[in-house]
Amino acid sequence: MVLISLGIEGTAHSFGAGIVSDDGQVKSNVWDMLTPSEGGIHPREASRHHSELGPLIIQKSIANAGIVPNDIDIVSFSRGPGLGPCLRTTATMARTLALRLNVPLIGVNHCVAHIEIGCLDSGFRDPVTVYVSGGNTQTIAFSGGRFRTFGETLDIAIGNMLDSFGRDVGMRFPAGPKIEMASLDASTFYELPYSVKGMDLSYSGLLTAARRLYSEGVAVSDICYSIQETAFGMLAEVAERALAHTKKDEILLTGGVAKNNRLTNILEGVAERHDAKFHRVSPTLAGDQGAMIAWTGILQYNAGDQIPIPDSHVLPKWRTDEQEIIWRA
Ligand code: ATP
Ligand code: FE2
Repeated sequence: MVLISLGIEGTAHSFGAGIVSDDGQVKSNVWDMLTPSEGGIHPREASRHHSELGPLIIQKSIANAGIVPNDIDIVSFSRGPGLGPCLRTTATMARTLALRLNVPLIGVNHCVAHIEIGCLDSGFRDPVTVYVSGGNTQTIAFSGGRFRTFGETLDIAIGNMLDSFGRDVGMRFPAGPKIEMASLDASTFYELPYSVKGMDLSYSGLLTAARRLYSEGVAVSDICYSIQETAFGMLAEVAERALAHTKKDEILLTGGVAKNNRLTNILEGVAERHDAKFHRVSPTLAGDQGAMIAWTGILQYNAGDQIPIPDSHVLPKWRTDEQEIIWRA
């Protein structure tokens, strides 16, 4: 008998629902992303998006998996970190379903879920993870019962930096893919601030300098190319150091920015130089979606980790290294 997990994700601009079984099969993964025509995401708008579309997305994921609600054995939800209003809307749906179906409720850390779905996807057991998204830029490795953040951004996340620059030059959110496309037409590299401090890095100086180049009339494609080479070069340096420091032999690239082919090439090079294996998470599992929550929920449930509904308040600031990873102990 397989165990079926429904995973609900709604930490920021995306709402997703996925069905995964405990033999590691992703049976469905449905999501929708709020894409404001201008400006960033407003937490209240995003939570309204989730409450309006959430029930339909959940229904669709159940139908796509070819199951009925009563087949669901556990309900997993993204408990944090994320935007308070979005988390609360998502948690309310998860609690309602767990109560209605009379099944256990599992609170999942969103960042941990990005790592665990990457491990399922790659078969890696103990990687150095480069987790890059709109809200996060971290180098993570398992050590002493937790996922330790070896390095992270000191200011803005890489995806946020890409989206901010893209917005300035008229690209619609999310700008990451558009910047990747534009950089293919570049002819000149412009030096931009390269800022690595130990294991940490910083992208705000790079963003300011890129904006300045734009105001000086430099071609957008050249700036996009220069941003990518510089920002990804910084990531390569910290990934390399994390690998040397931890002596692990796998590099996992995960999070929305993992969809970038140039970043993938660069990190592949790092892995090769260190005789390490490399995996970039599959595109449908890279961004925010429910399957990663469903799968991590299974790992937690099997290790005895579930939460009573009265204790299931959301954790907007839940850090990756704050959770005991009991299923890996
Ligand atoms: P988190 O909550 O984990 O920080 P998130 O809310 O930012 O995640 P994701 O879907 O993981 O959501 O990542 C979205 C980010 O990925 C956006 O900043 C987007 O520009 C970026 N992105 C998507 N595709 C690409 C690409 N091809 N190249 C670079 N960046 C990309
Ligand atoms: Fe994410």
